[in-house]
Amino acid sequence: MQKMWTGRTSGELNEFADDFNSSISFDKKMYKQDICGSIAHATMLANQKIISVDDRDKIIAGLSGILADIDSKKLAISEDAEDIHMFVEAELTKRIGEVGKRLHTARSRNDQVALDLRMYLRDENQLVKKMLLQLIEVIANKAKNYSDVIMPGYTHLQRAQPILFSHHLLAYAQMFKRDYSRLQDALERMNYSPLGSCALAGTTYDTNRKMVADLLQFNGVTENSIDSVADRDFCVELLSCYSIIMMHFSRFSEEIILWTSSEFSYVQLDDAFTTGSSIMPQKKNSDMAELVRGKSGRVYGDLMAMLTVLKGLPLAYNKDMQEDKEGIFDGLKTVQDCLQVFVPMLDSMKVNKENMLNSCKTGFINATDLADYLTKKGLPFREAYKLVGSIVGKCVKEKLTLEDITLDEYKQMCELFDKDLYEEIALETCVNKRNSEGGTSKAQVAKQIEKLTEFLDYEKSLY
Ligand code: ARG
Repeated sequence: MQKMWTGRTSGELNEFADDFNSSISFDKKMYKQDICGSIAHATMLANQKIISVDDRDKIIAGLSGILADIDSKKLAISEDAEDIHMFVEAELTKRIGEVGKRLHTARSRNDQVALDLRMYLRDENQLVKKMLLQLIEVIANKAKNYSDVIMPGYTHLQRAQPILFSHHLLAYAQMFKRDYSRLQDALERMNYSPLGSCALAGTTYDTNRKMVADLLQFNGVTENSIDSVADRDFCVELLSCYSIIMMHFSRFSEEIILWTSSEFSYVQLDDAFTTGSSIMPQKKNSDMAELVRGKSGRVYGDLMAMLTVLKGLPLAYNKDMQEDKEGIFDGLKTVQDCLQVFVPMLDSMKVNKENMLNSCKTGFINATDLADYLTKKGLPFREAYKLVGSIVGKCVKEKLTLEDITLDEYKQMCELFDKDLYEEIALETCVNKRNSEGGTSKAQVAKQIEKLTEFLDYEKSLY
């Protein structure tokens, strides 16, 4: 295919080099943004009298036709073109003749690709944001529905203190809420139009960059033409956001995988999100959660690749930057896919309340409360800690729980013990007395849910 940039060279590329150079196989998904950007550009060119109104109309009609035909699959994007920008321009000239060649006035592919990518990511990330809200909502609803379930809270994966299952779940809601706001920040920061920066130095034409930015719903224009075509910080930022989302997902998945094991049996996944084994008939594997956990690896890889592509690149545009797209598209798609599978998987997950409660009965998870009991009666905490430690030691030896020891025995160990100690170390008391702000008590958990609901209601009203 004859190259549009034939002139300085013959434009006849070695066949493999031609393929190697081409980005259309992956940048074709930005066709809509490319065409909308061109329509705005043509509108501005006519407004500034750089092209005639007549030419503008022909160009816009041609571009709109191409968009409609691609959307309706009447027109296939040919992979012979070098990239989507060249494809659209060539198709336009094919349809409207010489006038099509005026479109690329006061523009370069360098600012064009920077524009298209920002617009594409801006659009696609709205979906990510919406899906994050759905996820947070599912967590909040689960927390509401299981508000009386007590489970052991862990540190070092050892039973530590009793907590509400809702409290544990809501910890993830906080993570995803931060992810949402991080994504929002990144999107806000990148929403400036680079178009009009041209190859790198701006243009001699009397353009109106602000007009293009307004037409395309940007917050404004970028301030330095060299930076505008060299900047891919927004890809790095988005991939960082995706990496953090995936890190959160991998922790959540890991817990679900543990909880579905026979050793824990805390939760049950719906059959629609598990698989069997080809050899072991008894198996019900949490493959979706495992895949989500595993896919964090590829997203971290996408982030590292992007950072490495940009490292040491001289200003302004370099073809290395064409390597931005596959990674960012992969990271984006992976996060979208993970959200799509995780939200209904979590929504349909059932909780084995009894098993969680039974786990609380062993492991002395109320030992802190027994020490606190003595401390509140005047014993210094360090001494109370030591005494309770020795009581736990005795229980372990004699295969008893703290509740099994009689009041007489307790009194022999310390006269501060009284019959109200049993009430004090009951699991529900342990949970509900942790009423400090953000603690695990029912009241504090209800507050968290209330705040989350406010957040969700407000954010959802924006769409
Ligand atoms: N396909 C190119 C990319 O993705 C578009 C920009 C090409 N610019 C250039 N000067 N060759 O980066």
